[in-house]
Amino acid sequence: MALYKTLVVPVHEHGAIESAVEHLVAGALVAVPTETVYGLAADALNPEAVAKIYTAKGRPSHNPLICHVSDIAMAERYVLVPTVARKLMEHFWPGPLTFVLPTKQNTPIAAAVSAGLKTLAVRCPNSLAVQDVIAKLNRPIAAPSANPSGKLSPTSANDVLSGMEGRIPLILDGGKTSVGIESTIIGVTDAGVAILRPGTVTAEQIKSVSGIAVHDRDDDTITAPGQLASHYAPNATVRLNALVKQDHEVLIGFGAVRGDLSLSRSGDLAEAAKLLFEVLRTADASGAHGIAVAPIPNDGIGIAINDRLKRASAPRDAK
Ligand code: TXA
Ligand code: MG
Repeated sequence: MALYKTLVVPVHEHGAIESAVEHLVAGALVAVPTETVYGLAADALNPEAVAKIYTAKGRPSHNPLICHVSDIAMAERYVLVPTVARKLMEHFWPGPLTFVLPTKQNTPIAAAVSAGLKTLAVRCPNSLAVQDVIAKLNRPIAAPSANPSGKLSPTSANDVLSGMEGRIPLILDGGKTSVGIESTIIGVTDAGVAILRPGTVTAEQIKSVSGIAVHDRDDDTITAPGQLASHYAPNATVRLNALVKQDHEVLIGFGAVRGDLSLSRSGDLAEAAKLLFEVLRTADASGAHGIAVAPIPNDGIGIAINDRLKRASAPRDAK
């Protein structure tokens, strides 16, 4: 049932940012263009507004949200920032790196943002429009990706509209996102840095900046509860590591594997990340029964792409 007439307003249109801020102040949701994917934002200090995120997305209540801040100082209002985390923030912020850190006592952040955990995920997005919204609101915004839970993440205002029309009042349109897949999420403890979700900021980069050991989530006790086996699910079934297509399939190529569509003809992993969700949507819209995807090298940004593809191809009841 449509609750709202959803407006799509270009970020540069006069009064667009102010209108987004007014909606947030009033406890409404606004979809915003971060550099990774579009986020579904609410005032992180307003429990009723945060509750609307879970309803609009159909998101399980045990899956916490990322709190978006305008700078390190704003993050430090809410979480304890160890030295090594600060060093990484100074290097990678604003940018697609999210930190899961211990929440400060008596935090004013709505409890539902952390879904009952004693940690909070913080990220400073590299998007002038989103920075502007947070600065004018002068409060952090809680924002998951702006898609119905379990579906493909949105990389354009139109993608958001296709999943959220009628469920939210406003989408700020900043064009196509530049990174294309969600931020890298890390947990920082005395034991080192754990990658909870791979992204375009790679383990090698984090290791070289921090100078300390980086391990993947399998070796660590901290986990990101949202990392469900089936996620990013198109309607069609997905088959990985395909060199040729079978009957009723559309083939997504990469490099030398040409395909009907391609993530990157030159074999560039950053380009493949940027186009991943868009190309999966196009393949799905073709009406093919199956989507076959060429092999993607499993190093650097390829690790994050393969993580998304693995979830997109998982059996849909594997939650
Ligand atoms: O690039 C991004 O990170 C995008 C844009 C909008 O910023 N956001 C995004 O949010 O991908 P979402 O909700 O789709 O994914 C957030 C992930 C989930 O897997 C969630 O479980 C994890 O972050 N997460 C959030 N808070 C956490 C916490 N305190 N501890 C562990 N994992 C957490
Ligand atoms: Mg998501």
